[in-house]
Amino acid sequence: MKQNDKTPGPIGVFDSGYGGLTILKDMCRLMPDYDFLYLGDNARAPYGTRSFEIVYEFTLQAVEYLFNQGCHLVILACNTASAKALRTIQQNDLARIDETRRVLGVIRPTVEEIGKISLNGNVGIFGTPGTVQSHSYELEIAKLYPDFNTYVQSCPMWVPLVENREAENPGADYFVKQEVERLFSQCPDIDTVILGCTHYPLLLQKIRQYVPSTARIVTQGEIVAESLKDYLRRHPEMDIKCSRNGSRQYLTTENASRFSEMASFFMCQSAMATQIQL
Ligand code: DGL
Repeated sequence: MKQNDKTPGPIGVFDSGYGGLTILKDMCRLMPDYDFLYLGDNARAPYGTRSFEIVYEFTLQAVEYLFNQGCHLVILACNTASAKALRTIQQNDLARIDETRRVLGVIRPTVEEIGKISLNGNVGIFGTPGTVQSHSYELEIAKLYPDFNTYVQSCPMWVPLVENREAENPGADYFVKQEVERLFSQCPDIDTVILGCTHYPLLLQKIRQYVPSTARIVTQGEIVAESLKDYLRRHPEMDIKCSRNGSRQYLTTENASRFSEMASFFMCQSAMATQIQL
């Protein structure tokens, strides 16, 4: 990687596995001309139950890999990586790697949006154990909306349900109902519920069945895509470094044909991946 290189490159999108594809899908829809390079660390997923040190180490490796592929901007399309690694990478690593490159996450844009949605300030978050333990959502919400009350619920079974293609089967109801009831037992007046994990939109139909109809359910794809578009509008110096040939490329640390099969499930479109090593 050349420091201060100005050659335009694709926007890097990183996730522990397949989940970030639910975010990429909306980015591609909203910004069809831009080139996107997706990297899923499928060989080491899930991240949701891993320690801070490991999530940080793995995420940094992925970010450096994407920079080496010519990305000037990398989106951590993963709540767990955004919660546990983003701040340290932004504050410590970018200066050492190349201070002109940027890494953005999904938590901040999501939190910015809920301020416009919640009417009573009671907000619920579903997330992986890692995202919940990091308290990232509570901290961001407290910064932007100090009057809000935030309630979080860890859902350790939801990612495995989606990954095992059980999201639409009756067995999923037990786990979805259980976590929804746990969240609403903390506060029955929650009016806004954030699906704070990239996999959860695939459980949306079931979640909707159990969340009270008075609460609005917020998914992240569109929010993050809109926020990226807005970021590039406000940062023309980065926008000119993002190439625009409408290309999409997929990298995975696991078996490429398995990735391609799962990608069509997550994005409803096919994706041919290349296997790489981090
Ligand atoms: N992509 C992760 C997230 O949004 C979920 C999958 C995982 O645990 O690695 O938190």
